[in-house]
Amino acid sequence: MTEQDQTSLGNPQEIRVTHLEWSVNVDFEATIFRATATYQMERVNAKANVLNLDTSHLMIESVSNPEDGSALQYKLVKNEKEHLGTQLSILLPPGAKRVAIAYRTTTASSAIQWLPPSQTAGKRHPYLFTQCQAIHARSMLPCQDQPGVKMTFDAHVTVPSWAVSVMSGVLVRKDEAADVSVFHWTQKVPVSSYLIAMAVGEITKKDISDRCAIWSEPALVDVAADEFAQSEEFLQIAETIAGTPYVWGRYDLLCLPPSFPYGGMENPCLTFVTPTLLARDRSLADVVAHEIAHSWTGNLVTNATWDHFWLNEGWTTWFQRKIMARIHNDDRFLDFDAIGGYKTLQDTMKEMPTQYQSLVLPIGDNDPDDAYSSVAYEKGFNFLYSLEKRVGKASFESFFQAYVKSFASKTLTSEDFKDFFLEHFKGNSAVAGIQWDKWFYEPGMPPEVPTFDRTLSEASEKLAEEWVDVDQKFAPEPKTDIKGWTSPQITCFLDSLQARTASKPLKLSTLKAMDDQYNFSQSQNAEILFRFCEISIASEDQSMLMVIVYFITSQGRMKFVRPLYRALHESEMGRDLAVDAFLKNKDFYHPICAKMIASDLKLTVAKPNDDVVDSSSDSYWKMAVLVGAVAVAATFIFSRRK
Ligand code: BES
Ligand code: ZN
Repeated sequence: MTEQDQTSLGNPQEIRVTHLEWSVNVDFEATIFRATATYQMERVNAKANVLNLDTSHLMIESVSNPEDGSALQYKLVKNEKEHLGTQLSILLPPGAKRVAIAYRTTTASSAIQWLPPSQTAGKRHPYLFTQCQAIHARSMLPCQDQPGVKMTFDAHVTVPSWAVSVMSGVLVRKDEAADVSVFHWTQKVPVSSYLIAMAVGEITKKDISDRCAIWSEPALVDVAADEFAQSEEFLQIAETIAGTPYVWGRYDLLCLPPSFPYGGMENPCLTFVTPTLLARDRSLADVVAHEIAHSWTGNLVTNATWDHFWLNEGWTTWFQRKIMARIHNDDRFLDFDAIGGYKTLQDTMKEMPTQYQSLVLPIGDNDPDDAYSSVAYEKGFNFLYSLEKRVGKASFESFFQAYVKSFASKTLTSEDFKDFFLEHFKGNSAVAGIQWDKWFYEPGMPPEVPTFDRTLSEASEKLAEEWVDVDQKFAPEPKTDIKGWTSPQITCFLDSLQARTASKPLKLSTLKAMDDQYNFSQSQNAEILFRFCEISIASEDQSMLMVIVYFITSQGRMKFVRPLYRALHESEMGRDLAVDAFLKNKDFYHPICAKMIASDLKLTVAKPNDDVVDSSSDSYWKMAVLVGAVAVAATFIFSRRK
């Protein structure tokens, strides 16, 4: 028997759902789903007669036996921990194998963002998208909302005729009626609830191969198709590395409106990505390699609970870097990327509570969103890379293939991983003395300091050194022309500069000279702009405030907005502005992002239906007027919410 996943109120140890039949009517006027979820289930305990499901802010209308339509008894028990939601307990007739729940979502659903036309590129129609990882699926449908439960599904999505529905499955058929269309979807590979996703809007696609298409609003589809044109190639390389074919049928990619809160989300058959990847030079497409990698590590081989999240993200980061190294046909790229990751990890350790600095996260019944950080990714990567260094590249890569084969369609814990690894390498002296417990359970930076090949980061690090010398008046401005540099080299330069100036921010004159030479404040590359904004805040550079506020209110990717809001809030120049800008733009962000920024800024979040106190102050308005007035607004492809 598996242990109770404390982030879920479901009871799969007794009765486990195995298949979902989901009918959803999308109501853009009321911004709700009117839906029915019909489950097939399996009795793990033959005597059990109660099915427990997770719900959050759902209105349950009826629960019935689909065989004869008879009503079933149920009760709703709200958990005292808000993020866990409300348990739906259903009393089943003896031997019942199916149950149907008619319900509506509410505007308090944390998984769904309903965008007004003004937040779309087309500006004509509304749009919606969902984001369920880690435990938000319960606010979209009643389910056993834990990664340890996998199910297949069929979905029937009714939308207005102007709209297109896309989902984390394969399209079976589209029916058209008077003023609605019905899209029928299927997912034949069992998936955890966090991987159920949909988007509806004015969206269109461009095929890039037999199994890959790029979806977005019409205005961006050509740009997006070009940016992500390598997806098929990534997929083929991934298949070779994984040693197991891609099982999901299609690999489509949806480029979302700017409030999408993550860089990417590995929804099966349909990766979701932020438009901040549209750098126009394919330089940020490694996020796509990452999401493709999840098709094996995460979606097929899945963490048993969110405590073991590193098994999803650490493996995926390792796999992503392997794919990119093959794309460049140069193993040094793996180290180059890992150097950036190591810096991210160092920054994370300064901010994350000790509790969440270990590889195995003691989440318990706390909110997994609070435990989310680069620890799972980068400490996870460093752990796997250290194992690879011990046994050698070829052995480790074939271990990876064995791991995928062995755990495909299953879930596992860190201890399962350890057992499998030790069994696989039994008799190999190289695996003696691995500090498993240190890696798994201790906070802080990894126990072993990695030795990365630095040949590809050398020029960036040298340039950073030169600018520090300029700042200290030891040297004249460097004349290094970075025009021929790749974006990752520039990002590496900025990382290196940040690390070197952490305790002594650059002078304003240095920043100005740098921006005059390199134009970072106008960069189209969100990773570059993000780092330059951070450096500017550290130096209290007021001349950058407009750019910063524009950047954090025109896109809602948490990786960028959270650190910038936090830094602004901690700065002299931006303390009030951070709060004002957030309160003014709260509705622009996805509910998860709004919740996290509010907590970062130590604000209490008003419930969506509550009256929000509008405390816009002078500082915000001054800035808003300026932002509207400057041409910097034109540098981003997506326009700001009206
Ligand atoms: N699955 C994650 C995103 C996620 C994690 C959403 C946890 C909700 C909870 C996705 O695969 C991811 O890791 N995205 C990264 C991209 C990346 C290249 C590290 C991101 O969004 O930045
Ligand atoms: Zn990931």
